[in-house]
Amino acid sequence: MEIENSPHNLKEENKDDTENKKMESEITEYIKNLGLSWDALSGKKILEIGSGMGDFGLVAKKKNIDVVSVDRFPELYKDRGGINKGIKFVKAEAEKLPFADNSFDYVVSSGAPPTLSESKEEYLAQSKELLRVLKVGGELRIFPALVRIGKWDSNDDGDERYLSDEKISEMSKNVVKEILPDAQVQKNGNQFESRPWFEEYFLIKKPLD
Ligand SMILES: C[S@@+](CC[C@H](N)C(=O)[O-])C[C@H]1O[C@@H](n2cnc3c(N)ncnc32)[C@H](O)[C@@H]1O
Repeated sequence: MEIENSPHNLKEENKDDTENKKMESEITEYIKNLGLSWDALSGKKILEIGSGMGDFGLVAKKKNIDVVSVDRFPELYKDRGGINKGIKFVKAEAEKLPFADNSFDYVVSSGAPPTLSESKEEYLAQSKELLRVLKVGGELRIFPALVRIGKWDSNDDGDERYLSDEKISEMSKNVVKEILPDAQVQKNGNQFESRPWFEEYFLIKKPLD
């Protein structure tokens, strides 16, 4: 009892509280970038691909929202000092997910596959697999609305550094439309005034077969 109430422990608790609030506000921004809100996610089954540290799963768990966090390297992030305890972490590749067809209402990706693909084939393979595990009518949301265009286009010298970000954004939309004709690109928020294309995410609804 004495130890629990010591000034040192109270200070630690306050620090934890501040850090938790900061993480929650960052993750609220994270889902806003995907055009989502906690209300929209409530009662849904969600897969986050390329979950990194798992912060989204952690904050969602506190709100009783069902998120499965998938990453190829979850061992790097798992159980950070115990705080990730209880999160559903799954080690898997985006191209081969260990889930049944039609399992999730939302599949979300932020700075993760398929955005990181090295080729159109990889982009398509990852997107197809993410769509497979989505329920019919479910949504794949990918932020930001960019793909690595440089090495994909035969008219380009293969070095994406010579393309402006804006050009990459425009070309990305065309590529997504070309390989995933059902994709809609939607805009969200106003966070990056100097780089407006960074406000965009790809929204792909899983159509009826
Ligand atoms: C830049 S981090 C983004 C993490 C998190 N979404 C965020 O915004 O903080 C990209 C993550 O995607 C994961 N990743 C990359 N390629 C993957 C693949 N093919 N399958 C599964 N995870 C992958 C990486 O291990 C990494 O944790």
